[in-house]
Amino acid sequence: MNDPADLLRAALADLVDGLPPRQAAQAVERLIGTYRGDTPTDAPILRDRADVVAYAAYRMPATFAAVRSALAAFADAVPGWTPGSHVDVGGGTGAATWAVSDTWGGSRPVTVLDWAEPALALGREIAAAHPGLRDARWQRSRIGAALTVDKADLVTVSYVLNELTPADRTALVDAAAGAAEAVVIVEAGTPAGYARVIEARDRLVAAGFRVAAPCPHSAACPIVPGTDWCHFAARVSRSSLHRQVKSGSLAYEDEKFSYVAATRLPAGPAPSRVVRRPQIRKGQVLLDLCEPDERLERRTVTKRHRDLYKAARDAAWGDAWPPADGDRVDERGR
Ligand SMILES: C[S@@+](CC[C@H](N)C(=O)[O-])C[C@H]1O[C@@H](n2cnc3c(N)ncnc32)[C@H](O)[C@@H]1O
Repeated sequence: MNDPADLLRAALADLVDGLPPRQAAQAVERLIGTYRGDTPTDAPILRDRADVVAYAAYRMPATFAAVRSALAAFADAVPGWTPGSHVDVGGGTGAATWAVSDTWGGSRPVTVLDWAEPALALGREIAAAHPGLRDARWQRSRIGAALTVDKADLVTVSYVLNELTPADRTALVDAAAGAAEAVVIVEAGTPAGYARVIEARDRLVAAGFRVAAPCPHSAACPIVPGTDWCHFAARVSRSSLHRQVKSGSLAYEDEKFSYVAATRLPAGPAPSRVVRRPQIRKGQVLLDLCEPDERLERRTVTKRHRDLYKAARDAAWGDAWPPADGDRVDERGR
């Protein structure tokens, strides 16, 4: 079993097996309560081992899946590129390090920065299960005006901006832009998460980066603020702990996330991006697309479009459109 996703699932299952079920469920309830409370905070939310075990078991599969999905879209835009080094800022238990190694095999120098020592300690413990992450550096660091990020090919920031003051968000994005040739930022797929992603996107573009994903362009987002928000969904299998805490019998849930992947590298963004779940009707598929000319458009693909119609039936929310082999049929996907 060498697939990072399988290794992570097994490592997290071992972790939960080591906790009495009631204690695990209580730690998760406390964590959910904390995250519903006010952030940013002056001190780490993840204070002790019970907190971080709860975080790792309950949230890490979802943050891993969201980051992996964002990285897959980024990797499509920079084919042939593999990061030679990675820094994960506010990395916690290291979800993004697992997602990076799932996207680009092999190993690379990895540094995880976070101010919560218990999160770093648990991240190090889980990473021992993965040959590519065993040598990662887990380093205590506070995000703020004094933050320094060592040079790296790739910097990831996942589910962190939400916990920061506006000044610290700015300091973090600037430090990431100064350190890396590629920056991937992921936030919860809520209107507020999207707003933080757009703020970071604007800053990265002003620093000379180009947007590689999800947007087909680096100009302003066509969504009128307050009317909608750009977000996607990643499917996550529910663990036994999830089923224990959340009633219901669904074997999976969809983690909603917003993201931006920006780079100084030459990148080929998607021709356009499917920004809603496609609606399949009789003989036609309705695709809501973000277009390269800074517009949102609903396109109807019908049986008449033959191969493209087949491709539209397979298209998923978040995909590039048309798919690479759909180019053969009609390069504008019309
Ligand atoms: C919701 S967790 C996300 C962890 C991880 N990136 C993930 O995607 O699973 C937020 C992380 O940001 C860290 N964090 C929040 N504010 C911070 C600060 N000012 N300095 C350093 N780390 C911070 C927390 O300790 C926590 O590990």
